[in-house]
Amino acid sequence: MPVVLVTAAAEGFRPNMITIAWTGIVNSEPPMVYVSIRPSRYTYEMVRQSGEYVINVPSAEQARITDRCGLVSGRDVDKFKETGLTPVPASQVKAPLIKEFPINLECRVVEVVKLPTHDMFIGEVLAVHINENVLNENGRLDVDKVKPYAFCFREYRTVREQIGGYGFSKGDGLE
Ligand SMILES: Cc1cc2nc3c(=O)[nH]c(=O)nc-3n(C[C@H](O)[C@H](O)[C@H](O)COP(=O)(O)O)c2cc1C
Repeated sequence: MPVVLVTAAAEGFRPNMITIAWTGIVNSEPPMVYVSIRPSRYTYEMVRQSGEYVINVPSAEQARITDRCGLVSGRDVDKFKETGLTPVPASQVKAPLIKEFPINLECRVVEVVKLPTHDMFIGEVLAVHINENVLNENGRLDVDKVKPYAFCFREYRTVREQIGGYGFSKGDGLE
């Protein structure tokens, strides 16, 4: 599972961010993603009311700060103040982007799936921001520069070693 920091903004709430591991891509065209949020979270009501959120993908160096945002609630603390992370206005939604994070996806909720413990907010990706310093010389995203990491059996693990590439089993006789 990836770990992301989801930002939200809604009237009557302080701009906030929540650490989320229940997330992923669910559709290609239009691009759609989901985040599953427990109704008890401060961010839950913000996303429900605004119908918007931003997924900010951290680098491994940002694991500590991202963990911290998953231990405290926006109800009690201003996480932007506490972490020193910089909110930047997004282009399509009111939720801010986190400047320091290499990838930001602006999303609008298109469907909410109520599950026993979490609500799954399926969002259409309206805009994608990629920090220039994680691109290679061909302008493509460089995984070694992004340094994404995963939440694996309650441990944070980097995604370091390449063990193959898309379609690399072609010709193995299993088609
Ligand atoms: C690694 C990690 C992953 C988490 N994943 C989720 C998640 O997918 N959904 C969720 O509702 N809470 C998740 N949490 C818990 C929330 O981040 C945590 O309760 C947070 O303090 C809620 O903040 P808020 O009250 O400001 O919204 C996770 C926490 C950590 C540390």
